[in-house]
Amino acid sequence: MCGIIGCVGHDDDTLDVILDGLETLEYRGYDSAGVALAGDTIDVEKKEGRLDVLRESIDNGDATPSGPIGIGHTRWSTHGPPTDANAHPHTDESDRVAVVHNGIIENYQALRDELEADGVTFTSDTDTEVVPHLFGAFLDAGMEAEAAFRRTLDRIEGSYAIAAVVAGDDRIFATRNDSPLVLGVGDGTYYLASDVPAFLEQTRDVVYLDDGEVAVIDADGWRVADRDGDAVDKEVSTVTWSAEQTGKSGYDHYMLKEIHEQPTALRQGLSGRLDELSGRVTVEELDDVGTPETVHFVACGTSYHAALYGVELFREAGIPAQAFIASEYATGPAPVPENGLVIGVTQSGETADTLAALREAAGRGAETLALTNVVGSTVARECDHVMYIRSGPEIGVAASKTFSSQLTSLNLLVESLAGGATGDSRELVSALRDLPGDIQQVLDETTAEAVVDEYLGDDAFFFIGRGQNFPVALEGALKFKEITYEHAEGFAAGELKHGPLALVTARTPVFAVVTGNDERARKTIGNVKEVEARDAPVVAVTDGQSDVERYADHVLSIPETHPRTAPMLANVQLQLVSYHMADRLGRSIDKPRNLAKSVTVE
Ligand code: F6R
Repeated sequence: MCGIIGCVGHDDDTLDVILDGLETLEYRGYDSAGVALAGDTIDVEKKEGRLDVLRESIDNGDATPSGPIGIGHTRWSTHGPPTDANAHPHTDESDRVAVVHNGIIENYQALRDELEADGVTFTSDTDTEVVPHLFGAFLDAGMEAEAAFRRTLDRIEGSYAIAAVVAGDDRIFATRNDSPLVLGVGDGTYYLASDVPAFLEQTRDVVYLDDGEVAVIDADGWRVADRDGDAVDKEVSTVTWSAEQTGKSGYDHYMLKEIHEQPTALRQGLSGRLDELSGRVTVEELDDVGTPETVHFVACGTSYHAALYGVELFREAGIPAQAFIASEYATGPAPVPENGLVIGVTQSGETADTLAALREAAGRGAETLALTNVVGSTVARECDHVMYIRSGPEIGVAASKTFSSQLTSLNLLVESLAGGATGDSRELVSALRDLPGDIQQVLDETTAEAVVDEYLGDDAFFFIGRGQNFPVALEGALKFKEITYEHAEGFAAGELKHGPLALVTARTPVFAVVTGNDERARKTIGNVKEVEARDAPVVAVTDGQSDVERYADHVLSIPETHPRTAPMLANVQLQLVSYHMADRLGRSIDKPRNLAKSVTVE
């Protein structure tokens, strides 16, 4: 996930408008930033690091990009570490075209091979760089710029929002496919950006572009056409948000925004990694990792819950696996498995406990693999292997979309390392493909807000589940306590009767995650009856396959899906339960008291 912006019509202050716009987009990525200003030639300036580094180099006079048309980019790496060279904009060899891109070009390797065979020299490790080279090649072949842009789009596959400028041309060309892009309509000024806040200082009139549409803006106006070049009638709407909400795209909190970003985050994580025809999963980063004999996971908090889910997946594939709380692993006598793999799950890639556990494991001779969201993070640099979950930056302290991305990636990881061991890879691949849409359905149809109202002021909140729904119960409780400050506990459903049942009363709602209709579901329903008999209200989170609804006071429904993806849908309902309860209680949702996003002390 990156942020892009473009503007025309600001002859004197184009650079300032672009830089200010990028500042509001930094929540979309902040490992490098760059601008290209176009007139008769194109000036590019780009720097590794936060936007301030780029601003400083411009303020110091190290670079003075100028021109009436501008595009800018703030990066969240997916291909290639954060460096000056990998920062956007990218250009063709003759600096005639500059491009900014958010997303993933899935067929970039094939295109890069083809272009290199034609003698093109690449200057970065990014997937994006194929775009300006292709665009430049079509211009070289004598094509008009807009036609050349469209031909370029015909060659690329994947998810993308792209904006491009051409030296000596007064237009910006832009398009989107599965990545956001909006057009801003000012008075003689026009904008393109990943998100409205980027140009909200300039105009509140916006046009939301749809997948496959191509927008062209110049100082005289804007137009939108489909991929065949036929004009599309677009409505201009007026944004009414407050300035305070801008970085949140109209949501009241980053956490709610991030919960709603999950379909996009998962599409990014799955992009180029699923082959539905063969039912196979390909994770490029794992090409050189063999099938391990045993697996140890090390992780903390939410990431530990993801690790517990990963344990189940490996065990189903016949590979013994265990999850350790990282802070215990680092200081305890956990034996490193022979021919085993130690996997660190960490969103930030900087959690001190997880790093210490991985260092301890590496010191004892283990092969290590990092599953992380942050390219170039410490864990990514220190481990033998790394797989990225590609969730995009998460601002809310409580993890939401990154947990879903972790679970999705763990499915890809296990399929990739122990592929087909469970015998239903094709069904899984198809369920994963449908997962973003299923999550969208949960977000659209949830009744979590109304359910929460019933239990305001109760004494404590319990979450139960078995199998892959057990980590979801733990995560539901962690999220709940983190942002509501109310007492919440997650249990393996079968453990209730071994002690926690003593706490159960009419004022302790129990959220029971029951998916499928197998032995685990039936046994969990038995546990639901136990709490019901003690007068506890029951909220069933279910796909409706069992008859748990008969014993529940409320139901939070999820669509029917594969047994491995069902827990992820249930988790989205529980995220919303926590969010709405915290909101009702007026809590500091994005920055809960006493907590920090990245815990870099042991
Ligand atoms: C909970 C949460 C934390 C983190 C934990 C590990 O919402 O965010 O429990 O999961 O601090 O952080 P990472 O994944 O960055 O290692």
